[in-house]
Amino acid sequence: MREELERLLREAGEILRSAQDADKHISAKEGPANFVTAYDVAVQNKIRERLLALRPDAQFIGEEAGAQGDVRHGTAFIVDPIDGTTNFIKGCDASAISIAMLEEGRPVLGAVYDPYRDEFYYAEKGRGATRNGRPIQVSEEDLAHSVVCLGTAPYYPELQKQTFAIAAGVLEEALDLHRSGSSVIDLCQTARGSVGLMFELLLCPWDHAAAGFILTEAGGVITQLDGSPVVYDRKCSVVAGCPKAHGDFFRLGLHQRS
Ligand code: IPD
Ligand code: CA
Ligand code: CA
Repeated sequence: MREELERLLREAGEILRSAQDADKHISAKEGPANFVTAYDVAVQNKIRERLLALRPDAQFIGEEAGAQGDVRHGTAFIVDPIDGTTNFIKGCDASAISIAMLEEGRPVLGAVYDPYRDEFYYAEKGRGATRNGRPIQVSEEDLAHSVVCLGTAPYYPELQKQTFAIAAGVLEEALDLHRSGSSVIDLCQTARGSVGLMFELLLCPWDHAAAGFILTEAGGVITQLDGSPVVYDRKCSVVAGCPKAHGDFFRLGLHQRS
């Protein structure tokens, strides 16, 4: 499976890297600053065809076709063809392609490719996580010695006050605060130990399923803002990090800022 997914993701990554046209064939989706490009659709179609050829029994849930299928039973793929679409449109070179495989509602495999850094992240249940074939581990540092990433989607304006209240609290406690525009990249940077913690108040399953699983295989922790496990059949909040920084976030009551 690993070789097939790496080949597929590297091919898909080439589509993103070689995209030249300035406007990238953009269409608006629901809510402010929510876009889809012809590339999101082309990459998703390619991935769907290849994954279903590998596993014809599986369900396929991709961002650009809505959440079709019930991820709680059997085998399911959850795919984000381009995470960081606004970055992609603007040429910020911070986007990634994400594939998770679930069995009976729980992730068992995660594969992510960042075509701009040429980084392939991969994990299978119980086998640890790798980046370009080398094992990765989360950081051992506490929040005070960690960079933290936050996510804020412009299409949920009602969440901004709470997001920035938490962010202000985090900045008082942590080393620094980043916003990459790709939750998948934030989670992978956390899995490899560069970032200590990331949080976002509302993410879709395709924004966290693969990279969040890779993070847990690298020794990290992923929960919702109330400390409960993340879910894969609907949107949820995400707080993910190395054990020390994740523990500090809750111990300091940062989850209760509003
Ligand atoms: C978005 C990115 C962003 C996060 C948003 C997501 P998209 O995904 O992950 O960092 O803040 O919540 O929707 O739309 O670029 O695939
Ligand atoms: Ca996404
Ligand atoms: Ca996307």
